[in-house]
Amino acid sequence: MAYSEYIGRGSIRPRIVPSPSESERAGLKVGRLLCGSSTAWETFDPTLLLAQSDLDLVIMRYPSEQVGIAEKLSSQEYTCFLADTLLYLSVDLTGSTRKPSAVSNYRLSACASESRAPLVTEIFRGYTNHYSANSLLGGLATDSAYADWADSQSMADHKEFLQIENSLGQVVGIAVLDLEEEGWDELTLVGIVPQFRRQGILTDLLELLKERAGDRGKPSLVTSTQTHTLYSLRGFCDAGLRPCLSLNTLHIVKY
Ligand SMILES: CC(C)(COP(=O)(O)OP(=O)(O)OC[C@H]1O[C@@H](n2cnc3c(N)ncnc32)[C@H](O)[C@@H]1OP(=O)(O)O)[C@@H](O)C(=O)NCCC(=O)NCCS
Repeated sequence: MAYSEYIGRGSIRPRIVPSPSESERAGLKVGRLLCGSSTAWETFDPTLLLAQSDLDLVIMRYPSEQVGIAEKLSSQEYTCFLADTLLYLSVDLTGSTRKPSAVSNYRLSACASESRAPLVTEIFRGYTNHYSANSLLGGLATDSAYADWADSQSMADHKEFLQIENSLGQVVGIAVLDLEEEGWDELTLVGIVPQFRRQGILTDLLELLKERAGDRGKPSLVTSTQTHTLYSLRGFCDAGLRPCLSLNTLHIVKY
């Protein structure tokens, strides 16, 4: 979920919306319970919204510090899975934290549309996200879901699908950026081709992305990942990114 989706929903009252693409892929009625940064958590009762929904599965993301949400949902009517936790990280690109660019052995270029899905499939093979937590979604392989999503990115004009090449012209990784917000560029997908991992390329890639965002006049770079992807988190920290938001993903199944 994009950082702006949570922050931008600040003024929107929590609501449930159907999710046609997930419903079609899962063969179930799937929807999302959307809530934003200004939700009044002390009084918010998700069961009131769920009572009006006929969905089989509702996926909800809420700030991890709202630990009481799980208790509000504990009843005989629902089964809840804590499906993952997304950690958002950002780095300030203004002032003294922005370093002069170092000479890099790598370069960024646009990733051709026909290369996107194969690269995403190779990089995310076996990757687990919140779909993996729920047997109802067992048929949704995460790598193919990401590949479908990668294809859809060619339709969005505020997105940038980049590849990183080494000095031999080999594609060693990918980065998808959302450029829509004035306050930040958001790295929505990042990965290194398996044979090129553990060489520090993630950090090089992040430095190039920081430079690119800074050159565009963006004051920060934001990204997110599941908390179990420790190697990406280590790489993000190596590149100066720091945690700024944590969202838990709940799968709520109604009986
Ligand atoms: C996560 C990923 C991007 C890391 O890329 P990478 O170029 O191999 O990362 P780096 O070489 O810069 O390593 C980053 C850190 O993780 C550690 N690390 C990376 N792979 C590791 C492994 N297999 N075992 C132990 N440590 C590992 C490195 O030592 C480094 O930590 P350090 O700076 O504390 O030493 C890559 O493994 C990948 O694409 N994975 C699949 C997709 C994915 O997880 N994407 C990110 C989620 S959004």
